[in-house]
Amino acid sequence: MKSVEITKDVYRLGVNIEPGNLFEGIWSIPDGTSINSYVVRGDKTAVIDLTQDKDDFPRSISSQMDEIGVNADNIDFIIINHMEPDHTGWLKDFRSKNAEMMIYCSKKAVPLIKEFCGIVENVHAIEDGETLELGQGKTLQFFDTPNIHWPETMMTYLIEDQILFSCDAFGSYGEVDDTAVFDDQLSDDQHEFFEKEALRYYANIVASFSTFVERGLKKLSELQIKMICPSHGIIWRENPSVIVERYARFASYMKGPACPEITVIWGSMYGNTAKLVSEVIKGIRSEKVPVHQYRVPEDDIGFILADAWKSAGIVLGMPTYEYKMFPPMAHVIDDFNRKKVQNKKAFRFGSYGWSGGAEKELGTATENLKWEFLESVEWQGAPGEEEMKLAYQRGKELAVLVKEFAGKNCE
Ligand code: FEO
Repeated sequence: MKSVEITKDVYRLGVNIEPGNLFEGIWSIPDGTSINSYVVRGDKTAVIDLTQDKDDFPRSISSQMDEIGVNADNIDFIIINHMEPDHTGWLKDFRSKNAEMMIYCSKKAVPLIKEFCGIVENVHAIEDGETLELGQGKTLQFFDTPNIHWPETMMTYLIEDQILFSCDAFGSYGEVDDTAVFDDQLSDDQHEFFEKEALRYYANIVASFSTFVERGLKKLSELQIKMICPSHGIIWRENPSVIVERYARFASYMKGPACPEITVIWGSMYGNTAKLVSEVIKGIRSEKVPVHQYRVPEDDIGFILADAWKSAGIVLGMPTYEYKMFPPMAHVIDDFNRKKVQNKKAFRFGSYGWSGGAEKELGTATENLKWEFLESVEWQGAPGEEEMKLAYQRGKELAVLVKEFAGKNCE
């Protein structure tokens, strides 16, 4: 990977977490993800966010710094927008090369820097809106943007060039090639890819903080922004408003309504619950509503979250297991609670053997999600004609409801 000059004396340095790793130790990234950091050079030099202490990332970033004549000896400021170790894993080691490098961060980041890195000297806690002049027409301004997605998060704005360094906000999964770091260098297919990966990233990492995203967007709306430089994903140079509007849409799905789509998630022990899946889907499709379908435990929760987040309708195909919800589905519902997958139209179908119980537990487990349920389809043993018919009808009913309820604000 090579450094890229994004405008005069401002550089992007980057590495890619390779496909096959798990982001945050949880989330599948079959197409990897980038970690970006930035250098701004005036009379003084600042590096904005670092990198993870993983693989050859520090060596790669050091080598990209060398390309532009920057190193620990001549960097004056390290700006820490966010303390999560994908951006700060290297901080302790990097800063040990030159203890004079001044760290700028939010007040809430100060104790985290101490606990994660053992650094207490030359750490400056910014005031919201504070500026830092680097000289040569480069002035940084710092804004507290708490809980997007950690409490200590801030963003950095380069006033003269109107560039926002937004760290995790406006980011996405997906590897970034140093020959195509800008939005205007991507094909339509690549844009489609990054849109999907931005949604998945949002649903996995940011979703539960959607209220804070809306607050942050309001605050940032007062800035003139020519370019958005996130710490994951591409740089928005031609159309920064695209990613801002996209994030505003994603955030709005928490309060609903989301898009006129339905996500069907199902699991089955011996095939009795499975028998109704195709009937439900036929019912939904009879109303021409798009369907996303996942089976648990086989399918990946990170993908399920993304489609569920965007869908106004949810269907749960779930048998009872030992008086309770089928455990892989209980895991899905638990993640829906954690990520605040709220304000949906929904229904459940599922079989039981010697005792029911899933329905009762589902009611309790979804109490905080503000879902409106249609009447469930539940039966003992194998499904009969009646259940097959009801499954089709209920799928259709849900699709009609979703069309009435869903927002129009979907690309
Ligand atoms: Fe990319 Fe929340 O760290």
